[in-house]
Amino acid sequence: MKKAIFPGSFDPFTIGHYDILKRAAGIFDHIVVAIGNNPRKITFFSAAERRQHIETVCRDFPNAEAAVFEGLLINYVKKENINIIVRGLRVFSDFEYELQIGLANKDICDTIETVFMLPRPDHIFISSSMVKEIGKFGGEISKYLPQTIYTDIARRLQADA
Ligand code: PNS
Repeated sequence: MKKAIFPGSFDPFTIGHYDILKRAAGIFDHIVVAIGNNPRKITFFSAAERRQHIETVCRDFPNAEAAVFEGLLINYVKKENINIIVRGLRVFSDFEYELQIGLANKDICDTIETVFMLPRPDHIFISSSMVKEIGKFGGEISKYLPQTIYTDIARRLQADA
């Protein structure tokens, strides 16, 4: 059983995340889309809101589920009997950070593999921060978000403007 986790902040979950989830769901038997909730980190969307968004998108995939974890990713991975960590790699600047986290996770637990997935070329520039910036100033963000969660995210961003 290849049980994978796709961890992230997902503040909010974008079309780029959705594409990685879709492809990962086709590769692995089960995939947990897990929000790493750090109470000290300020996010725009609460963990409950982000979980709701991810639960909605996971309805598209019978082998995907949403989760929230606190503390070390590796501890959660071991507790849930997960063996693969999936991370998206967009640009070169992502690499140094991902290498460090990936190696630290490998050092803590050698049996868990990190798998990096490349984005679709037309998604390379899409990030949660960019979507929040455009959305708060009333720009068009529907093409950057899964259709099922767009309305909720746009409404929340507009309310903050
Ligand atoms: O989308 P992000 O912000 O790049 O996600 C980062 C996340 C949540 C996956 C990462 O910060 C994480 O795994 N946090 C939990 C703490 C941890 O295990 N850190 C790695 C060891 S240094």
